[in-house]
Amino acid sequence: MCGIIGCVGRGDETLQTLVESLGKLEYRGYDSAGVAMAGDRIELRKRAGELDALRAAVPETLPGTVGIGHTRWSTHGPPTDENAHPHVDCTGNVAVVHNGIIENYQPLRDELEAAGHTFESETDTEVVPHLVEDGIADGLDPEAAFRSAVARLEGSYALAMVVAGSEAILAARNDSPLVLGLADDATYLASDVPAFREHTDRVVYLEDGQFARVDRDGWVVTDADGDRIDVEIRTVEWDAEDTGKSGYDHFMLKEIHEQPRALRQCLQGRVDELAGRVSLSELGELDPARVHLVAAGTSYHAAIYGAQLLQQSGIPAQAFYAHEYALSPPPIEDALVVGVSQSGETADTLGAIREASRRGAETLALTNTVGSTMARECNRALFIRSGPEIGVAATKTFAGQQTALNLLTIAASPPSDARDAIAALRDLPANVQTVLDESNAEAVAEAYGGSDAYFFIGRGLNYPVALEGALKTKEITYEHAEGFAAGELKHGPLALVTGDTPVFALVTGDGEAATKTIGSIKEVEARGAPVVAITDGQSEAGRYADHVLRVPETHPRAAAIVANVQLQLVAYHVANRLGRSIDKPRNLAKSVTVE
Ligand code: G6P
Repeated sequence: MCGIIGCVGRGDETLQTLVESLGKLEYRGYDSAGVAMAGDRIELRKRAGELDALRAAVPETLPGTVGIGHTRWSTHGPPTDENAHPHVDCTGNVAVVHNGIIENYQPLRDELEAAGHTFESETDTEVVPHLVEDGIADGLDPEAAFRSAVARLEGSYALAMVVAGSEAILAARNDSPLVLGLADDATYLASDVPAFREHTDRVVYLEDGQFARVDRDGWVVTDADGDRIDVEIRTVEWDAEDTGKSGYDHFMLKEIHEQPRALRQCLQGRVDELAGRVSLSELGELDPARVHLVAAGTSYHAAIYGAQLLQQSGIPAQAFYAHEYALSPPPIEDALVVGVSQSGETADTLGAIREASRRGAETLALTNTVGSTMARECNRALFIRSGPEIGVAATKTFAGQQTALNLLTIAASPPSDARDAIAALRDLPANVQTVLDESNAEAVAEAYGGSDAYFFIGRGLNYPVALEGALKTKEITYEHAEGFAAGELKHGPLALVTGDTPVFALVTGDGEAATKTIGSIKEVEARGAPVVAITDGQSEAGRYADHVLRVPETHPRAAAIVANVQLQLVAYHVANRLGRSIDKPRNLAKSVTVE
């Protein structure tokens, strides 16, 4: 998704600071990038493709001490130099960057073109500088012109604008994230904190409908009428190093290896092992009659897992794709609606949460991002504490969501002995570490990389893990991969199974789910498919498999978290062998802030 950066106060270093910050926003996914510096006139540089193309087009410095930059993830018009942001007006004096979608851009563009404006791009964004140009031509100062332009927009936007001859950045937010970074010598404005974290840990998250002005004298947040708003300055709890690769080839591999620490952080101070209790004081009293979990992508798989946990504990629960839920919500009645979202900014999930709120439901954000829109809009928030995740493919945050959903389930369940589950959570970080230390996933990737397709099967709590294994594989290898409930295999997918389609079977424990999944293994073996069993050795699954990815023996709830780590590693190593762009897979964005 598009990334915005703005910077005031770094003098000659402003341009390079902007370009470096864009590098920190790469993880959001992008296909072109650009910067604008405002001095006596606007200096614009923008390029389609990777940031290196922009770096090559940008000199050491450009005139001006105020600038904005942007990484674009195309929605209107293909990724070309012309469509890259910033966009300027006819005079070239107004430059704007934007994240979101301006829904009424076509009538605005028709109106502006009829009035004589010339457009250089196919984007929805370009209407904004032209509207501002009209306001300035009518005698408004740049800030008033910006406000009157924003008042005409429908849709979602985080906007930042610079104007030639003015040493200020003006910004507005509606439905797309924007955060101020407050350093002693400079002020930043960005879509997300990693863009400026190396310069400051003091931040202000803007709310929908708010405007900001940042200049050399400081910063101010105002409402649509221009009245000053008192905002809270928060301190970010993670370090700039947390957003570096720490010697790993890819962020994804680093983040896979960070899981033991991330899970420890998630559990810290929330579990009383002796009493067999979980305490989530931030949530207050928790006694839901039923739970709806709404999510997208990887988070949806965590939601399916969470719904199963809640059901096992006697709480009616269901997972929904957020986009479907928003479109046709089921009777919400007395449900607690939980938005599961790493970023807390996914437009689809926000849409579902807002629909639930409109219908009077209690809402809870289960997210990694403290200042996110979802965390602020929901009645309550449970943070998974995974630390920043840069790789587009979610890894440690999925494990964090699964773990937090265990905590939520225990906290929301009628009092019962949760000691076994709690002990398994205590052992979870060490068990994940064992998999990381001993995994032979690379050898498995070597054996099967280059297959026609990859299938993943599991039952019960391992079913969402099968879905997630397939999603991870398709996201970063670009190969065909599908996950199935193992019982469903014989009802259709079996037709796809051949000697060139390895089947990854999740078999943990020795219960009915394990026995029946072994039955599925035999079905695919009979059709000549190689089988990789992800198993703890409690069943005979290993006997029937061509390869085994071993996981430690643990509680079924924890097994589904640990087993997934093996699949993350397989996907990573297959993608690495194929030379894929692992941290920034084609066409995908880390945080999808449009519906
Ligand atoms: C995008 C990402 C996925 C992610 C999904 C939901 O599609 O590419 O990796 O799972 O959004 O994101 P969220 O931030 O809501 O968990």
